[in-house]
Amino acid sequence: MKILNLDLGDKSYPIYIGQNLLLKGELLTKYITGKQVMIVTNTTVAPLYLKKVQNLLSSFEFAQVILPDGEKYKTLGTVNYIFSTLLEKRFDRSCTLIALGGGVVGDMTGFVAASYQRGVNFIQIPTTLLSQVDSSVGGKTGVNHMLGKNMIGAFHQPKCVLIDIDTLDTLDNQQYSSGMAEVIKYALLVEYLNFFNFLQENIKDLMNRKKSLIIKMIYQSCQHKINIVAQDELETGKRTLLNLGHTFGHAIENTLGYGTFLHGEAVSVGILMATKLSHLEGHLSSKQVAKIQDLLEKANLPISIIGKINASAFMKAMLVDKKVINGNIRLILLKRLGQAFICDNYNNHLLDQVVNEFCQ
Ligand SMILES: NC(=O)c1ccc[n+]([C@@H]2O[C@H](COP(=O)([O-])OP(=O)(O)OC[C@H]3O[C@@H](n4cnc5c(N)ncnc54)[C@H](O)[C@@H]3O)[C@@H](O)[C@H]2O)c1
Repeated sequence: MKILNLDLGDKSYPIYIGQNLLLKGELLTKYITGKQVMIVTNTTVAPLYLKKVQNLLSSFEFAQVILPDGEKYKTLGTVNYIFSTLLEKRFDRSCTLIALGGGVVGDMTGFVAASYQRGVNFIQIPTTLLSQVDSSVGGKTGVNHMLGKNMIGAFHQPKCVLIDIDTLDTLDNQQYSSGMAEVIKYALLVEYLNFFNFLQENIKDLMNRKKSLIIKMIYQSCQHKINIVAQDELETGKRTLLNLGHTFGHAIENTLGYGTFLHGEAVSVGILMATKLSHLEGHLSSKQVAKIQDLLEKANLPISIIGKINASAFMKAMLVDKKVINGNIRLILLKRLGQAFICDNYNNHLLDQVVNEFCQ
């Protein structure tokens, strides 16, 4: 087992990464406060792992909420259903919530934990690659609004993150690839751990799910994330870099409708759009653009939008993003491979050119 620690003063917490972790009760129970524990999961994950986790909690007053599966249920309505269950079961402020599932379950459970009785304890057990490398770490929680993705939310850090990579055994290949988009994103952001080269060299084995390499990849991805979050927990500066590809990606998800493209698939196309704009702005060479595209393709990720999106609808969707400041879309671009930067003064004609290339 490998352990990382996200250093946030009195909100610091460990991230455990390894195999068979869902059999190790003490890892989980030492982060539970109070006597009442509620597991929040969904209809897909519950039959696979709920019993396993429940078995670790025999000494607690236990409740569960099993949500419908899908991004389209990441709403205030679903969150309200969790609140109602907590209240009906008379859960008090000392309770602990456990998110068991992918990013959708994790984001909603975290949001409930942030706001139930003004904040309760919570633990993340992420079960998709995307949630293991990204969403379970860093304390961003929330839900979607009809008019924009993740528009309602809060920062609320978990007490620990338990990443049992054996849960990936049941994850399908498309979802696994979706997680790879966030992994590739880290490799482009900063030059650290020679991560881009590691991915390039091992992409075949990683896609064949070689477990020793998966552990290394998740560990290094989480290292990237915690280094940035520890410097800027509330995203007032450097953490914005983690949104590489996301302003474009969110606009794709929003315009196509949630669920048409998986989140990571939309981010993959978004990364390529940001890469191409970086090239047109004179930063990245065409060779570097090709290298990035090649890695996305080898991870079985899309490099174009499947389905029709109207360019002006796309631009409108981009304007409903948390990265929009005073009506100006703030983008994350690449100076070179391994050096991302926040860009407010790109050429709008070049942005239009990229949007037109991808939206037909
Ligand atoms: N909070 C953050 O910092 C952050 C960062 C990135 C993404 N996100 C959010 O994360 C969400 C995407 O997360 P996701 O990709 O995990 O999607 P998801 O939660 O929808 O999970 C994908 C699918 O895999 C299923 N699943 C989960 N674990 C499984 C397993 N072990 N075996 C088989 N099936 C399994 C789920 O039921 C679902 O059908 C988006 O809502 C996105 O906005 C949040």
